Amino acid sequence: MSSDVSGFHKLSLRKRLHVLKDFAKLTKNDIKVLTHTGALEMKVANAMIENVIGTTQMPIGVATHFKINGKDYLIPMAIEETSVVAAASHAAKLARRGSGFKASSSDPIMIGQIQLMDVKDIQKSKKDILIHFKELKNMLTNKDSTIVKLGGGIKGVELRELHSNRGKMLVVHILVDVRDAMGANAVNTYCEMLAPYLEKLTGGRAVLKIISNLASKRIVKASAVWKKEVIGEDIIDGILDAYAFAKADPFRAATHNKGVMNGIDAVLIATSNDWRAVEAGAHAYAALKGNYGPLTRYTKNKNGDLVGYIELPLSVGLIGGATKIHPVSKIVLKILGVETSKEFAEVVASVGLANNFAALHAMVKEGITKGHMKLHAANIAANAGAHGREVDMVAKTLVEENNISVTRAHEVLKKLRITMRNKKIKRLLKRFERHKKVKKWKKDKKDKKKK
Ligand code: MEV
Repeated sequence: MSSDVSGFHKLSLRKRLHVLKDFAKLTKNDIKVLTHTGALEMKVANAMIENVIGTTQMPIGVATHFKINGKDYLIPMAIEETSVVAAASHAAKLARRGSGFKASSSDPIMIGQIQLMDVKDIQKSKKDILIHFKELKNMLTNKDSTIVKLGGGIKGVELRELHSNRGKMLVVHILVDVRDAMGANAVNTYCEMLAPYLEKLTGGRAVLKIISNLASKRIVKASAVWKKEVIGEDIIDGILDAYAFAKADPFRAATHNKGVMNGIDAVLIATSNDWRAVEAGAHAYAALKGNYGPLTRYTKNKNGDLVGYIELPLSVGLIGGATKIHPVSKIVLKILGVETSKEFAEVVASVGLANNFAALHAMVKEGITKGHMKLHAANIAANAGAHGREVDMVAKTLVEENNISVTRAHEVLKKLRITMRNKKIKRLLKRFERHKKVKKWKKDKKDKKKK
């Protein structure tokens, strides 16, 4: 069957599923699973993106122990990978024995880019733009817009001359304070409104008018101290070695930063934030000095404790996008209890640092595979039907035998249940014997009295 289906978007959900069913030979049960939408109702999902045929679910776990700038947070994280939520919580628990995380952030300034080609005199155009910018800005500023009312709006301009394989270009950066939004809509709108005026002023041709995801003016910093009495001096030295490796090698830096983004993305997904924008910005920032490097930094303070820092751009929002549409994200934000996008960004950066620290700590301490294996084995045990205490017992055997498979988990569980049942029977028998003895003793005593 062909995928050349025109007008798919115009079809009703039922008809779309029909097309899909024929194309991929889906069963009735497949359709049932696909359309079992959970909290995100089909009609809401249908209004969010195009060609909707269902929704997907992901677990949300809550990271505990976080204290950031003196405030306690329970942090919901949506992720399919084991260990990440536990790792964040563990790092936060250890950091709490210092004084938790300290975080700060710049104003939420995003950059919009207007690309001007065929500008005859770039130097003169630069001057003209600077002379007229205030007046252009005032013209574009709608005093009634929410962002402007809240103190946001266009705050500045930067001009860059670039040399490309298509010749020189003048790139105008407008700096926009987007307040509590991620900012793409506001910035793109400003860029589009400004472009015709810039064309007139420079005689150039405006091509792209779009936000930059390298949000280098929206920087968030966080740090934490892990005390040597809490994590041990050997671990601190191990983490410093691991950090030196990431600094020296982009192959390691990519994985180091993946650990950072494990935490950051999970919070962004739980809140329906644009995690692709943040990913793009984070990696571009990591390479901004020329070499791709780690987003975090580690040093030892004068007491010999480990100090971890993170610094990255975070274009995150509490309004706009899907944040206030997705019913689960609305509740997630309630749990988080953040008031501004700045506070939110500070929480997100702290989680990134926590996950990075936890990964390094685990790898240095016992080898990440072993740590992962334990959790993986617990998942497999649960998959095989283990409940409660059985999960740990089965997982322990799987790890010891180095055979983490569902087939083996079934066998171990079966054996464990037989052993447990036998033990229970033995215990009952013992109790019965004891009961019998007591009864006999009481009877003998009675008989003696009678005599
Ligand atoms: C796995 O999701 C993340 C790690 O690979 C990060 C790291 O190596 O630092 C453990």
